[in-house]
Amino acid sequence: MKFRKKILCIGAGYVGAPSNVMIAYKCPDYKVTVVDINAQRIAAWNSDHLPVYEPGLEELVLQTRGRNLFFSTDIEKQIAENDIIFVCVNTPTKTFGAGAGMAADLQYWEKTARQILENSKSPKIVIEKSTLPIKTALAMERILSSGKGDITFDVLSNPEFMAEGTAINDLENPDRVLIGSHETESGVAARAQLVEIYSRWVSPEKIITSNIWSAELSKLVANAFLAQRVSSINSISALCEKADADISEVARAVGTDTRIGAKFLKAGIGFGGSCFKKDILNLVYLCHSYGLPEVAAYWESVVKINEYQQERFIANVLRSMFNTLAGKKICLLGFSFKADTADTRESPAINITRMLLAEHAEVIITDPKALGNAAIDLANDKGKISFIEDPYQAAAGCHALAMMTDWDLYRKLDYRKIYKSMVKPAFIFDGRNIIDQQKCFEIGFNVFPIGKPALTHF
Ligand code: UDX
Repeated sequence: MKFRKKILCIGAGYVGAPSNVMIAYKCPDYKVTVVDINAQRIAAWNSDHLPVYEPGLEELVLQTRGRNLFFSTDIEKQIAENDIIFVCVNTPTKTFGAGAGMAADLQYWEKTARQILENSKSPKIVIEKSTLPIKTALAMERILSSGKGDITFDVLSNPEFMAEGTAINDLENPDRVLIGSHETESGVAARAQLVEIYSRWVSPEKIITSNIWSAELSKLVANAFLAQRVSSINSISALCEKADADISEVARAVGTDTRIGAKFLKAGIGFGGSCFKKDILNLVYLCHSYGLPEVAAYWESVVKINEYQQERFIANVLRSMFNTLAGKKICLLGFSFKADTADTRESPAINITRMLLAEHAEVIITDPKALGNAAIDLANDKGKISFIEDPYQAAAGCHALAMMTDWDLYRKLDYRKIYKSMVKPAFIFDGRNIIDQQKCFEIGFNVFPIGKPALTHF
C-alpha cells in the first residue's frame, strides 16, 4: 500500500509509543514507525507482552501493528526514509556536573539531533515531544544547521500532556494540543502539516499554536501548576490533622469555586511519577540560571512539601505504633505512583519503604501490576522486604497496612477478613483516603487517614 505520509518516532517509551500508536490508529493512510536503541523494548512492542501497561493500549496496537504501525531498531535507515520525525527520547535529571540533581540531562537528545543530521538526505520536520528545558529547540536547530548540505530542517515543539493510566483517553480527547513553531514561512508550513495530523480527531479550537519558547515553557509550567496544587492541599492536610478539620471537606468547599476547580486537590502521600519532580527542578534550574532566585525558591518549595508529606506520614506511623517499628510487619498496599500503571518512577512508596527499613520494620509489598518494578527499585536496599501479589496473603500476620496507591481494588477488599488475619492492635494508615474509614474502624482497626482526625480504639 502507498502511504500518504511517513512519520517516525524516535523513543519507544511512555510518551513516544502511545502517542504514535494513536496517530497510526487515527490516520490509517500514514505509515508510522517507532524506533528505539533498546532492542529488548522494540522486541516487546512487537510481541504479545507490551512493555507499557495502559488501559486500552493493547487493543489499539493489535489493530494497527503491521498495518500502518511498525516498531524497529534501525534508527538510521528510518531517519533517511521519513520526513516527519517526533523526538521522544528521555531527558532525565542530570546526575553529574553542573546542574546535577536539577537540570535535564540532554545527552540522548543531542545524540539524536546529530543522528538526524547525519542520516538525512531530504528536508525534515523535527518535532520535540519530550519535555525539555526552554531553548532546547534552539540548540537542536544549531546542531541541525551545522551540516554542510543544504537540507532544511524545521523544528517544532509539540509537548505531550497525557497522564499515565489514562493515556489513551487523554490522547483521544485532549484538553488541547499545543504546537510551537517559528513564524517564518517554512515554520508555518511545517506547523500546518502537524495540525493536519491532529485535525483528524481533535477539533480546531483545541489545537493551540504559539511560538516555540512558549510551547516548551508551557509544558513545564503546566506540570509545575498541577504539582503545586497537590503540595498545596497536602500542606493543608497537615494543618487539618492538628485542627480537627477534614481535608476532604475543605477540598470540596474550596474546589467548588469555579475559579479554583475541583481537580488535583486530593491529599495523599505526595506526588510521584517521572514528570512532576523532574520538571519542577528543571524550572527551578532555569530560574536560577536566568538570575531569578525568588522564583526558583517558590517552585522549589513544591518539591520540599512533597518530601515533607512522606516524612510526616512515617513519623505518624512511628508515633501511633508506640514509637517502635523494629521487627514489626508493615504491608504496603500498592507501589506504583498512581493507579492503573505499573510505573514506579519517583513513587512515594520507594521513600516510604526506605524510611520503614531504616526503622528496622519488615516491609511486605503488594501491587497488582508493579511488583516487578518495585523489586528493581529496591534491589540494593538492605532489610527484610517481600513481594506478594495477593493482598490477603500480603496482609496476613502484619501489624499495619499502609495505603500507597489508589488502586480501585483496594477500596473493595474484605477488610474484615484482613483484620482477622493481622496482629492486634491492627492499624491502617490510609495514605490515599480511599477506604471506608468508619467501617474499618468499626471492624476493629485503628485508622489513620490523611488530613482527618484518627479513629482509634485507645
Ligand atoms: C503528569 C501530568 O498530569 C501530565 O499532563 C504530564 O504529561 C505528565 O505528568 P502523570 O505523572 O502520569 O501525569 O500523573 P498525574 O495523574 O498527573 O499524577 C501525578 C501524581 O500526583 C501521582 O502520584 C498522583 O497520585 C498524585 N496526585 C494527583 C495526588 O496526590 N493528588 C491529586 O489530586 C492528583
